[in-house]
Amino acid sequence: MIHPNAQVTPGHGPDMGTPLRESEVGVTLEIDGLSVTVPAGTSIMRAAAGRDVNIPKLCATDSLEPFGSCRLCLVEIEGRRGFPASCTTPVEPGMKVRTQSPKLQDLRRNVMELYISDHPLDCLTCAANGDCELQDMAGVTGLREVRYGFEGENHIKSAKDESNPYFTYDPSKCIVCNRCVRACEETQGTFALTISGRGFEARVSAGQDQPFMDSECVSCGACVAACPTATLQEKSVIEMGQPEHAVVTTCAYCGVGCAFKAEMKGGEVVRMTPYKDGLANEGHACVKGRFAWGYATHKERITKPMIRSKITDPWREVSWDEALDYAASEFRRIQAKYGRDAIGGITSSRCTNEETYLVQKLVRAAFGNNNVDTCARVCHSPTGYGLKQTLGESAGTQTFKSIEHADVILVMGANPTDGHPVFASRLKRRVREGAKLIVIDPRRIDIVDGPHVKAAYHLPLRPGTNVAMVNALAHVIVTEGLLAEAFIAERCEDRAFAQWRDFVALPENSPEAVSVVTGVPAGQIRGAARLYATGGNAAIYYGLGVTEHAQGSTTVMGIANLAMATGNVGREGVGVNPLRGQNNVQGSCDMGSFPHELPGYRHVSDTWVREQFEAAWGVTLQAEPGLRIPNMFDAAIHGSFKGLYCQGEDIVQSDPNTQHVAAAMEAMECIVVQDIFLNETAKYAHVLLPGTTFLEKDGTFTNAERRISRVRRVMAPLPGMADWEVTIALAKRLGYEMPYAHPSQIMDEIARLTPTFRGVSYARLDEAGSLQWPCNDEAPDGTPIMHVDGFVRGKGRFIITRYVPTDEKVTPRYPLLLTTGRILSQYNVGAQTRRTQNVLWHDEDRLEIHPHDAQERGIKDNDWVGIRSRAGETVLRAVLSERMQPGVVYTTFHFPESGANVITTDNSDWATNCPEYKVTAVQVLPVVQPSAWQAKYSTFNRTQLELLDAARTSSEPVPAK
Ligand code: SF4
Ligand code: SF4
Ligand code: SF4
Ligand code: FES
Repeated sequence: MIHPNAQVTPGHGPDMGTPLRESEVGVTLEIDGLSVTVPAGTSIMRAAAGRDVNIPKLCATDSLEPFGSCRLCLVEIEGRRGFPASCTTPVEPGMKVRTQSPKLQDLRRNVMELYISDHPLDCLTCAANGDCELQDMAGVTGLREVRYGFEGENHIKSAKDESNPYFTYDPSKCIVCNRCVRACEETQGTFALTISGRGFEARVSAGQDQPFMDSECVSCGACVAACPTATLQEKSVIEMGQPEHAVVTTCAYCGVGCAFKAEMKGGEVVRMTPYKDGLANEGHACVKGRFAWGYATHKERITKPMIRSKITDPWREVSWDEALDYAASEFRRIQAKYGRDAIGGITSSRCTNEETYLVQKLVRAAFGNNNVDTCARVCHSPTGYGLKQTLGESAGTQTFKSIEHADVILVMGANPTDGHPVFASRLKRRVREGAKLIVIDPRRIDIVDGPHVKAAYHLPLRPGTNVAMVNALAHVIVTEGLLAEAFIAERCEDRAFAQWRDFVALPENSPEAVSVVTGVPAGQIRGAARLYATGGNAAIYYGLGVTEHAQGSTTVMGIANLAMATGNVGREGVGVNPLRGQNNVQGSCDMGSFPHELPGYRHVSDTWVREQFEAAWGVTLQAEPGLRIPNMFDAAIHGSFKGLYCQGEDIVQSDPNTQHVAAAMEAMECIVVQDIFLNETAKYAHVLLPGTTFLEKDGTFTNAERRISRVRRVMAPLPGMADWEVTIALAKRLGYEMPYAHPSQIMDEIARLTPTFRGVSYARLDEAGSLQWPCNDEAPDGTPIMHVDGFVRGKGRFIITRYVPTDEKVTPRYPLLLTTGRILSQYNVGAQTRRTQNVLWHDEDRLEIHPHDAQERGIKDNDWVGIRSRAGETVLRAVLSERMQPGVVYTTFHFPESGANVITTDNSDWATNCPEYKVTAVQVLPVVQPSAWQAKYSTFNRTQLELLDAARTSSEPVPAK
């Protein structure tokens, strides 16, 4: 059941008119005879709204700074001449304000007459009917006639811009209130919109008077949300009409974890509107969460269970019972023949905490081993290890909002405008307010040198040299006397610190020595280190460009060392902040998905911990860690690992060295895939269990801030069963009962067994909106900032981070370094975003190459190029880009046929086996045909799609439960 607090009103909702102001000083005034006390700096409009006095307005909205253009919010102030705008006039002590009088009513009606005389009168057929502030204001001001008539010059016949796939711009309805322009600047930070022309000619224009699709617009939808009329309107609303109810849920794309209102008509989503009360996003969103949800009802969804004996056999659509019976009997057959450890499971960061918890429980309790791993293995496992070793907890230290207090922001190996767009908007805003930015990244990413954001330092290091760079920054801090001595003395282990200090002070770690390997001038490294150490509150944000390396864990520890050395831990505006890739990376790690850890990061060898789970689950647990994902592949190829249950994770596309992974798949006897589409892994499966999208799920996600948020079902599961029910049904057939009636009961068990989750329940989440763990008796409202009075592990531990060059070296045969990343409009393996209109922005992966490297090879823009590494070869089209440094090439990995992971090797992080996706030595040369792998893939893919089609056309639909 949906909690009443989760049901919200569709549409614009309550609006205080101007943003909240924070001040210690309270100001008391009188509005319409009511005494009001508000923080100094508050507008009269907001003060009035706080007492339910709603002053008419059009250009004001509480997410944007006031602008004062519409003149609808005029008020009278005793002792003052004229009629000031209440949105731009701050309160003053003793002020006496009147918001209603015959004169004010006249003035407002006059304003409305002017607007309406240049506005189509098609309210009854307008898409915004019922959700239009202009319409509301016409009612509020009592507009009854338009004396100016409609015959004069007007914009009523202006042409629509339909270029954006998700929203239209209809200039005939524009009242030039500027809200969209301000939203694009203040909220999104893209500055794509302007008001071009003056007076009557004034109109909103994207870019240089271009269609939206040709401008810098990134389709975040902030302008659409801000528009008070139907001028900027979602196409889905135009097609489907206004929603009639809304439910609060959480985005299922990236680790920002934006809260949304799913605005519905019956069981259909009309639009997803970013939720203003969501603390991760505060009413903002990006093109993925806001618009790219159509995949949920895409015709290629798998909705019926299927089985086959061999992957060359046609699929057979079967009942849930038959599919689950078959999967269970196969797993038991394999265990009887090859031993208990011959099977395992993979959980996914796409799934909810509850689903993930159940899969690891299934593996440990029903399979009877610890062979469970998660896709976090291939992204942020070094974060878990590195932060645990140094700070004592495997998670980021701050809220996203904390960046509002940062004076220096260091971004390393992350590209927030593409990977974490809503966080990027916060970051850009803080930089516009004056914070200094340091970017450590091989590429000149957008935030290095955007039109409104410039980094004070960009250190374009060679891929694979992060540890050397971090050590050089530390060297400057230590040798130039920039250490936070008092913080270190009080909060960190003395001996470890002294050893670390002596180590980083060695000449081999000096910027001058390190510049040889990183390729970054020593002066730049010194400047950045001084700024980080002395610029005030300094916060580090990092991503997969840090973790996905042979020394990923070492760099994470090096980053933690830097923060401790400068005292930048334990308060607002500082900290160490991993930007998690997928929506529930944090949660999948928290839930015990790693083969060596039970939920809450407790080692399986800890007898006391194990005993608690054994008592609760009624089984004996293995005390030895199980297989990690790469070990599973190796064991499969060697013949000792024969069966896999893989929920919501496309290992064939996303893991490195595709041909090795495919060989492992082919070697197994039973692969059970639970997913929403026939993904690359499912093409090797023997049992395909249809999964559900976030719109069909009840559960929780945990974002990069450790924020646990509810995911609420708004549509019935298309396959008839929820994913958690499927896991339970499989366990039952394996002889293990999991008696839960609702995901809330799974969370109750997690809370009982996990100290950091002890205070978490659905009731608490519904009440609080979201909670950041640890949430328990010591922190009943959760923990926004960690390590405040001391580190979780007691004293912070500096760890020596010796730079060891990766084995992946350039040679004359492989002279370039390939690094990979993702793009704003697409998402990871692309299974969802490729099935939306987002393909209009990015419909193929390309290879970015510096013009110098391209010229040396005779490569021009758009040429087909072969990219060959020690692992394999693929062919993509080239894009010449000066964002690259010479010697480094880059690609995304959103399309399976690109085969980006055919080239990546199986080098991995020494501590966690996280693959070294970010460093692959390659050669790039012009070619005229696809690679041998691509040709083979094409045939395999075609066959698998035919086998699926055959199954689908030969059966009748199975009705949903
Ligand atoms: S959709 Fe976003 S980026 Fe595009 S114009 Fe609107 S606010 Fe700007
Ligand atoms: S498009 Fe909408 S928000 Fe922008 S100026 Fe026109 S009416 Fe205002
Ligand atoms: S920033 Fe991330 S969580 Fe927010 S809407 Fe975009 S993809 Fe979803
Ligand atoms: S709302 Fe105040 S001037 Fe427009």
